[in-house]
Amino acid sequence: MAGEASGGAEAPRDRPLVAAQLARRRPAAHVPRGRDEQVEVGPHVAEDDTRVPCLRLAGLPGGHEGAGGDEEQGEAERERGAGCKARHRASFAAGTCKARPGPWVPGQGVGSPAATQVGLPSRHRLVSSGETARVITDVNPFVYSRPIAPDEVIDRDDETQKLLRWAVGGHYVRLFAPRKYGKTSLLGRVLRDGERSEGLVPIIVDLYGVLSVADVTVRVERAYARQLKGRLRARVDEFLQSTGLGLSLGAYGVSAKLQLDPRLDPLPALHALLDLPLRLADGGGARALIVFDEFQDVAKVGRIDAVLRSHIQHQGEVASYVFSGSQPGMMEQLFEDKDRPLYGSAVPLRLHRLRSEDIAAYVIDRLRGTNRSAGDALNPLLQTADGHPQRAILLAHHLWETLEEGATGTFADWSAAHAAALAELEPEFDAHWRSFGTTEQKALRAVLAGGGSPLGARVLGRLDLDKATAHKALRRLAAAAEVERTDGPYTIVDPLFAEWIERMQGDAAGLESPIEVDETRSRTPTS
Ligand SMILES: Nc1ncnc2c1ncn2[C@@H]1O[C@H](COP(=O)(O)OP(=O)(O)O)[C@@H](O)[C@H]1O
Ligand SMILES: [Mg+2]
Repeated sequence: MAGEASGGAEAPRDRPLVAAQLARRRPAAHVPRGRDEQVEVGPHVAEDDTRVPCLRLAGLPGGHEGAGGDEEQGEAERERGAGCKARHRASFAAGTCKARPGPWVPGQGVGSPAATQVGLPSRHRLVSSGETARVITDVNPFVYSRPIAPDEVIDRDDETQKLLRWAVGGHYVRLFAPRKYGKTSLLGRVLRDGERSEGLVPIIVDLYGVLSVADVTVRVERAYARQLKGRLRARVDEFLQSTGLGLSLGAYGVSAKLQLDPRLDPLPALHALLDLPLRLADGGGARALIVFDEFQDVAKVGRIDAVLRSHIQHQGEVASYVFSGSQPGMMEQLFEDKDRPLYGSAVPLRLHRLRSEDIAAYVIDRLRGTNRSAGDALNPLLQTADGHPQRAILLAHHLWETLEEGATGTFADWSAAHAAALAELEPEFDAHWRSFGTTEQKALRAVLAGGGSPLGARVLGRLDLDKATAHKALRRLAAAAEVERTDGPYTIVDPLFAEWIERMQGDAAGLESPIEVDETRSRTPTS
């Protein structure tokens, strides 16, 4: 996953290094200043053989900037190409370039037809090689649509340490927080640190959307296939293939077998996979740290928690487990119901909102790194995001988009960014709103109208809602992490959704400003 295994588990989303990331990581001297500035791109081959660009600004000393295509110049180009190749190798060796240098193809200078055609200003000409391409270097650093890289995670130091200590101690943990609070990103960091500093074998299984034992079996097998490396991988693969169950870490594993014979019982294969931590530990091997992400979805698969328990209860010496989920209700059912197999089997850890100071430091730093400044836009952004991790980054993303390079944010910039964010989310919010029943819709409006106290007589009367019904609806909403109640007042978890509901009401009533908003109400303080 390491991608959103929903992250890790979100494998394809976790490509190695994209051009944008490389651009950001380049030493300052190599950072070009203009938006869409052209840089030279050398073909590199990443660890997984994906070709990724390695960037250099054409026109800087040592660049491949030539003028003509005659023999002599061709020779000069070849020489410069060799120098460039050497530098790429040097940066790779120094760890500043994550890509493995691939073959550098010198020989086509600026005077080549390809470079001439694009008509670039002289300093930023695209210098072509056999495989050069155009790369945009002024890139938005705020990623909000997938789990982020371990080093990008704001704060979460305490949680990382706790999870690592528990993992090393052989404790099992259930991590829960609403969607988009950064669970998968945090777990990616824990898995990386656990591997690096504690020698744990990291495995993350994305269970998002599983509906059957076969689905779970395929997800577990693919997780091992993606994440096991080296000799361990070869040993496990050999074992899996020897079971005769169709399991393999290669391209065609148990899913191929299940496709050929849909009536095949996947349970024996799942048992073999769940026993893998015992195999990993054979001969004094390493402890595995196994994360089940989006674990609440196993509640839809009958018997699976019993199957899991039958294995993990014997693995305290060889594996540590983290069960991560975004629906408190489902997670409670799985772990707090005395009749469920996993009852009381994992230490609870709740992920909270981020502190505004931490978000501020991150936003300021990332804007500065791309030659922008938050200015007067920062405070309204922090206030609106209310500590919600993904919403804060999404707003920062839109703020970045509104700021020209070198600009300092104004309140007008904030308003434009805010409007753009709400416009982007409109279809999502509309569909989300329609997915609720009428009583839930009323309960959500009651939370807003009551300033966090939805059960007052005035509010309920206006919404034509009785207290018992409202109470039940609020419980359902809390179980789905739509509302939360930490210390007192209820809050709608997603601050932008809350705003959208208020606006929708205001718009529908033909009002200029949202109705039913108690201006004096205070949101739950961020933790
Ligand atoms: N600690 C954090 N630091 C920076 N961004 C975060 C953090 N937590 C969440 N985010 C933002 O939220 C988005 C979703 O994170 P993700 O890990 O996928 O959440 P979850 O797994 O809880 O749904 C990320 O793309 C990022 O923008
Ligand atoms: Mg996730």
